Amino acid sequence: MTGIICGTGSYIPPYSMDNNDIAKLVETSDEWIRERTGVVRRHIIQEETTVSMAAEAGRRALENAGVAPEEVDLILVSTISSNVILPCAACDVQKELGAKNATCFDLNAACTGFLLAYNTAEAYLATGAYKTALVIGSESLSNLTNWKDRGTCILFGDGAGAAVLKTGEGRMYRPVTHSQGHKGEALTCKSRHSSNGLTSHAEPEELTHDEYFMQMDGQAVFKFAVRSVPEVIHEVLRVNEVEQNEIACYVLHQANRRIVEAVAKRLDEPIEKFPMNLQEYGNTSSASIPILLDELNRAGKLEKGSKIVLAGFGAGLTWGASIADWQ
Ligand code: UT7
Repeated sequence: MTGIICGTGSYIPPYSMDNNDIAKLVETSDEWIRERTGVVRRHIIQEETTVSMAAEAGRRALENAGVAPEEVDLILVSTISSNVILPCAACDVQKELGAKNATCFDLNAACTGFLLAYNTAEAYLATGAYKTALVIGSESLSNLTNWKDRGTCILFGDGAGAAVLKTGEGRMYRPVTHSQGHKGEALTCKSRHSSNGLTSHAEPEELTHDEYFMQMDGQAVFKFAVRSVPEVIHEVLRVNEVEQNEIACYVLHQANRRIVEAVAKRLDEPIEKFPMNLQEYGNTSSASIPILLDELNRAGKLEKGSKIVLAGFGAGLTWGASIADWQ
């Protein structure tokens, strides 16, 4: 018994900014951004919120799966950019969709978040605790981006993706995931850091302007990704006794085209097995994997019965890979 992906959905804000628009904000160029990242444009929220995008992606995934909102008994939202601290985004999504029978909670594991949410849903479905899960990654990274920092603002974008998982007969693969908290300084956003002013005598830490937004050691994250992602893919194949040539496609977190290309090279796989859409959306953190999955699904590019690998990496540091049989 395992969770089978039986529908996908996504929502992308219509407003977009191309690299030339970014070059009006910071000292950069279309050529530099394309060459170093592969990103051409990114979509940015206007009226949308993390919750509204999550709900729309979820609604589309339910429609795609032919599942009614009342049938959903678990909603997980992976996000680092929720509009409010309470209630959790998943409960707001429940309200928007009318999924009144669902248990709802959020996960925060940055760009590995969707993968970990997917693994969590799989584990719950395998125990029989729930039968139908809606797993969503939704991000308004534009709210966390320092639009004066050319080292980060060129990369990120907004959007949401979702998958519906139902209990079914199939192979339960063991996921492989890792974390290295001691390397967390490579990618941070400290804007919620404060003391309670009651039992903590330290004055609330004064944040600089830059600390309110994401700060990244881009080269450190880059090196970590190109080393760790191929390793964890090898590991997930090994522990599940799956041969690399059985994998039809690798759905990687969309951070940088050069990272995806380096992973393909290290695995000695053709780049065609690594679909990409980061040119259109930039890095949408936990939304990137389900948005790509939805595009592949709707374009009919995933064959029934084929094996796919999902792999994520990012702040924490966290990273991991999972195998799924496409149904
Ligand atoms: O979801 C996971 C989160 N993050 C990531 O996956 C990010 C991983 N890292 C990256 O994608 C890349 O490190 C970046 C795209 C962020 C940066 O690319 P890079 O090739 O590592 O550039 P760099 O930081 O080594 O900078 C190279 C040069 C520097 O100039 P000098 O010192 O060689 O004269 C930078 O000052 O490029 C300069 N530079 C820029 N120039 C134009 C840095 N950012 C820009 C920019 N436009 N936006």
